[in-house]
Amino acid sequence: MRIAVCPGSFDPVTNGHLDIIARASKMFDKVIVAVLKNSSKNSMFALEERVEMLRINSAGLGNVEVDSFSGLLIDFMKLKDAQIIIKGLRAVSDFEYEMQMALMNRKLDSNIETVFMMTSSKYSYLSSSLVKEVARHGGCIHGLVPDLIEEELIKRFNIGG
Ligand code: PNS
Repeated sequence: MRIAVCPGSFDPVTNGHLDIIARASKMFDKVIVAVLKNSSKNSMFALEERVEMLRINSAGLGNVEVDSFSGLLIDFMKLKDAQIIIKGLRAVSDFEYEMQMALMNRKLDSNIETVFMMTSSKYSYLSSSLVKEVARHGGCIHGLVPDLIEEELIKRFNIGG
């Protein structure tokens, strides 16, 4: 069984992430979306919220499950018996850091392969941080994130002033 892991912070999940997850689900027997319990990064959404939002929005994909991890990604992969890391590439600017991570992961475990997928062009400029920044200043984020997250972001930034 080919099991792929799609790791990230997902703070919050965007339609760009969901596009990669849906396309990956067609390529592998199982896709595990792995949400990082990031202790160093200050996340806007709690781990449970990030996991829940991914679960709700990938519920239609039968072979996708959502889990969380801390520590090294390759240790989580061993635990799940997964062999492939899926990453989305938006632009050349993503390449350098992604290449570094792919090579480090392969050094740590030579059985792990990283597979890069090109993001759909309509999402190529999209990132969780940009979505939060635009929402913080009252800009329109419609179509960039699932509707539930759009509502939640608007609510949080309104309450925060
Ligand atoms: O969405 P992000 O923040 O770009 O995702 C980064 C992520 C989670 C893929 C990366 O930080 C990661 O794999 N962290 C786990 C720690 C680890 O394994 N580090 C070594 C990888 S080179």
